[in-house]
Amino acid sequence: MEKALEDIRALQDALKQRLDDDQAVLQQLAKRLWAQQESEKAKLSRELHDGIGQLLTGLTRRLQALSKESPELETLHGISEMALHDVRQLSRLMSPTILDDLGLKPALNWLCRNLLEDEPINYTSDITLPSEIPKEISILIFRIAQETLVNTIKHSEASTIVITLGFHHNIVRLDIVDDGKGFDSKTIEPGIGLSSIKDRASAFSANLEIVSAPGKGTRTTLTVPI
Ligand SMILES: Nc1ncnc2c1ncn2[C@@H]1O[C@H](COP(=O)(O)OP(=O)(O)OP(=O)(O)O)[C@@H](O)[C@H]1O
Ligand SMILES: [Mg+2]
Repeated sequence: MEKALEDIRALQDALKQRLDDDQAVLQQLAKRLWAQQESEKAKLSRELHDGIGQLLTGLTRRLQALSKESPELETLHGISEMALHDVRQLSRLMSPTILDDLGLKPALNWLCRNLLEDEPINYTSDITLPSEIPKEISILIFRIAQETLVNTIKHSEASTIVITLGFHHNIVRLDIVDDGKGFDSKTIEPGIGLSSIKDRASAFSANLEIVSAPGKGTRTTLTVPI
């Protein structure tokens, strides 16, 4: 009897170990997939910048020189400038090289400015971070902040957003809170954005919590062990 119980326990342990191993392999695979997606985005971003971006720069310059000649040419110059601005913004958001160049804090401030400056939303941000954060974690935090802010702009009708990022006991914590119309997760039309940031967080053993209710705003909290 004793021996049979011992055997069962040993079998249980072996199975648990196998599950843990499989889980670790899957997590590595998910991380590699995200890294690959980032490098594809970086490639596309360069193509956009060096291709259409350069053509539009040339076009805008020429139209600027001609713009005094007629109101139509001035209008065309304005349109061309807007197109150039959009292509630049798209290319930068696709591959935020500012993350590599200056680090997470300036990159997040840049993201807020870029996404929110033309919106009727007040925002405050309080970002305190240790100097060194692994690059893959910086990218994770940046992408989750990006999707959350874009969602707030697109769906929330919020008047304020508060963004806080802090570091305690080896855990980085990002909170993004809006005072908008909120949503009921059971009745929303599911998109790709939320499920993709959830998958992404779990690939890095991070915890992502999105708390929302109709009329009560939305709070997104990400905690990542470092
Ligand atoms: N901050 C928010 N305030 C109100 N509703 C929100 C907010 N964030 C998300 N939602 C709701 O959750 C839904 C799903 O969001 P999700 O990001 O997955 O998809 P999406 O933004 O519609 O499309 P995409 O795939 O481009 O991200 C949204 O359509 C919206 O109804
Ligand atoms: Mg979305």
